[in-house]
Amino acid sequence: MKIIVTSIVALAATTALMAGVNAGACKGCHGQNFEKKALGKSQVVAHMSHADIATALKGYKAGTYGKAMKGLMKGQVAKYSDAELDAFAKTIGK
Ligand code: HEC
Repeated sequence: MKIIVTSIVALAATTALMAGVNAGACKGCHGQNFEKKALGKSQVVAHMSHADIATALKGYKAGTYGKAMKGLMKGQVAKYSDAELDAFAKTIGK
C-alpha cells in the first residue's frame, strides 16, 4: 500500500512539473494550431522550427528577441522557466 501511495504522489508531482505552458492562452492571437499571424504582426509560428520557437520564447522572456510588440509576448512567457519554454517549443511548429 505504501508503495502505491508513494507512486501516486510522485506522479502528481511530475504532472505538476510537466503542466508547463498553457497553450490555450496563445490561441486567441496565434490561432488554434498557431496557423495565424498574431495580430497581423508575427510570423506564422506553425511554420517555424522547434529551435526557432525556443529561441523566440526564451528571447521574449529575456527581452533579447522580437519586434515592436515584443513587450506583449514578454507578458505571455515571463512566468515560465526556460525548461518549460524549451519543452513547449517541441510541441508546436515543425
Ligand atoms: C495578445 C496576443 C498574443 C498572445 C495571447 C500570444 N501572442 Fe505570441 N505573438 C503575438 C505578437 C503580436 C507577436 C509578434 C511580437 C513582436 O513584435 O516580436 C508574437 C510572437 C510570437 C512568437 C514569435 C514569432 C515571430 O514572429 O518571431 C512566438 C513563438 C509566439 N508569439 C508564441 C506564443 C505563445 C507560445 C503564446 C502563449 C503562451 C503566445 N505567443 C501568446 C501575439 C500574441
